[in-house]
Amino acid sequence: MKIKIAPSILSADFSCLASDIKKAESAGADMFHIDVMDGHFVPNITIGAVVVQHIRKITKLPLDVHLMISEPQKYIDDFVASGADMITVHIETIGVSGLCYQAKRLALKGVRIGVSLNPNTPLAKIKNALKYTDFVLVMSVNPGFSGQKFIPKVLPKIRELRAMFKGDIAVDGGINDLTAKDAYLAGANILVAASYIFNSNNYKKAIRRLKNVG
Ligand code: DX5
Ligand code: ZN
Repeated sequence: MKIKIAPSILSADFSCLASDIKKAESAGADMFHIDVMDGHFVPNITIGAVVVQHIRKITKLPLDVHLMISEPQKYIDDFVASGADMITVHIETIGVSGLCYQAKRLALKGVRIGVSLNPNTPLAKIKNALKYTDFVLVMSVNPGFSGQKFIPKVLPKIRELRAMFKGDIAVDGGINDLTAKDAYLAGANILVAASYIFNSNNYKKAIRRLKNVG
């Protein structure tokens, strides 16, 4: 499968977010990954729908909103109204029946839904959800912060998932040119990366290196 790169804006410079986003877009980004954290499901607070609304004005690339929040159902519509093209929800917060319900609603709006799972959450927890999701986001760090180290024990999970799921598999956390290769060989085709791209002095080179692992 062709590799797609999703820069996570968490490591962008928020004092010049528009320019960082435009730079990443012209450097070859395929979509943007926006980390929404509530200080409850994860120990950090980041971005709300109002920011997504402004990001929507400066790029035409798809926006994937990664909801690391408790009670995501309450906020999904706000993020869709703000311009999200993809909504990623954690199985730990929404459960299979909640996901099925939201999948039907989002399909009517032309928004893709993805399910995410933490490194310690077994694949069994999302098996029954796979038929309702367009993509899966496998967390390769414990969610909350960018700049953490890739947890290699998620690789067998990606491999097992690829054997049963034909859609997009994204991997999120600790992605660099080395871990990207491992994740790709295991079956992931969307690479989410914050620090590797935004902390580099050449976004184009960083994105090309990630794409070249395929
Ligand atoms: C972690 C977030 C990730 C994070 C990735 O909770 O979901 O998207 O921004 O950051 P890096 O690529 O630096 O590990
Ligand atoms: Zn994320």
